[in-house]
Amino acid sequence: MYMSLSNMLGLALSSCALVSASASSTDDTMIRRQVNANSVSTADFKSRFEQSGIVPEVIAALDPAVSFYASYKTSTGQDALLVPGSTLTVAEAAFPFEFSVENLGNATNITTSTRYLIYLLDADAPSRNDPSARNLRHYLAGNYTLSNTPSSVLPTAQRLFLPSAASFPFTPYQPPQPAANTGVHRFIYALYTQPPQFNLANFDSVGMSPETSNWSLPEWRMQLGLGPAIGATFFTIDTGANNGEGTSGQVDTVAQGGVTAAASGLSSPMYPAALTALTLAARLMV
Ligand SMILES: *[C@@H]1O[C@H](CO)[C@@H](O)[C@H](O)[C@H]1NC(C)=O
Ligand SMILES: *[C@@H]1O[C@H](CO)[C@@H](O)[C@H](O)[C@H]1NC(C)=O
Ligand SMILES: *[C@@H]1O[C@H](CO)[C@@H](O)[C@H](O)[C@H]1NC(C)=O
Ligand SMILES: *[C@@H]1O[C@H](CO)[C@@H](O)[C@H](O)[C@H]1NC(C)=O
Repeated sequence: MYMSLSNMLGLALSSCALVSASASSTDDTMIRRQVNANSVSTADFKSRFEQSGIVPEVIAALDPAVSFYASYKTSTGQDALLVPGSTLTVAEAAFPFEFSVENLGNATNITTSTRYLIYLLDADAPSRNDPSARNLRHYLAGNYTLSNTPSSVLPTAQRLFLPSAASFPFTPYQPPQPAANTGVHRFIYALYTQPPQFNLANFDSVGMSPETSNWSLPEWRMQLGLGPAIGATFFTIDTGANNGEGTSGQVDTVAQGGVTAAASGLSSPMYPAALTALTLAARLMV
C-alpha cells in the first residue's frame, strides 16, 4: 500500500516536471508573474508555529508530516506562496487560488482515495488581547483531493483541489476583515485527512454546528473522529497598534523569494500569552 502510493507520488512528480517545462515554453507571462518560491521544511513549519506563539497558545502541539501551502496574489499582482509567518494585506487574504502539499507520502494512513479537510481560522478574534471569539472559523471544506498537477508556484508541491461535483464547503470562505486597531491577527490554515464517512456526507451528519465563533478544535476533532493536523500554515494581518502591542511592520519576505525572517518578529506579547496558555491549555489540543 505504502509502496504503491510512493510510486504514485513519484509518477505525479515526474509528470509535474513535464507540465512545468511545457508551461515555461508556452506561457512566459505566467512564469514572469511568479515569485521565486522555495520549499519550507516540516521542521521550519513546526518552529514558526512555536515562534508565533500559536503553539501552545492556540494549538497545543503541531508535528506536521507534510509541508502545506496556499498560493495567493500579492498586491503587486504576483503569484506567491504562503509560507508560515507571511504578513498579508486584507486584499491579499482573498481565497487562495491554489492549495498544495509536499511529501504527502510521509503522512500515515494515506491512500490514493484519501480526501482531505482544510480550514481557515482567526485565532485572535476580536483581538489577541481579548480572544473571546477564538477560534473564529473563516472556511471549512472537506473532499479535497490530490491532483497530479504541480503547484503553479512551487513545482515540487502537488495541488489539492475540490472536485466540483463534491464541493460543499461546510463554511464557505468568508474573507478576513479584522477591525482596525485590534493588533496583529494570526490566521491559520490546517490540513487533515478526512475520515471516509465524509466522502458521502457533510459534517452536519455528525452534528457539527454552523456557528463560526468560539470554535473549539479539540471538541471538533473528537466529533468528527479526526487525527491531528497533517500540515498547517499561517499568515498575519496587522490592523494597527493595540496598547503598544501588535504592530509588526513585517514585510512579506515571500515577495522577495525568501522565507527566513517572517516569523522572527511574531513572538507573543508576554502577559496574554502566559495567561491564555494557562486558561486554554486544557481545551486546545489540535
Ligand atoms: C519525508 O519525505 C521526504 C521525501 O520523500 C524524505 O526525504 C524525508 O526523509 C521524509 N521525512 C520523514 C520525517 O519521513
Ligand atoms: C490509521 O488507521 C487505522 C485504521 O483505520 C487507525 O486505527 C489508526 O488510528 C490510524 N492512525 C493514524 C495515525 O491516524
Ligand atoms: C465565546 O464564549 C465566551 C465565553 O463563554 C463568551 O464570553 C463570548 O461572548 C463568546 N463569543 C462569541 C463571539 O460568541
Ligand atoms: C463530499 O462529496 C459528496 C458528494 O460526492 C457529498 O455528499 C459530501 O457531503 C461531501 N462531503 C463533504 C465533507 O463535503
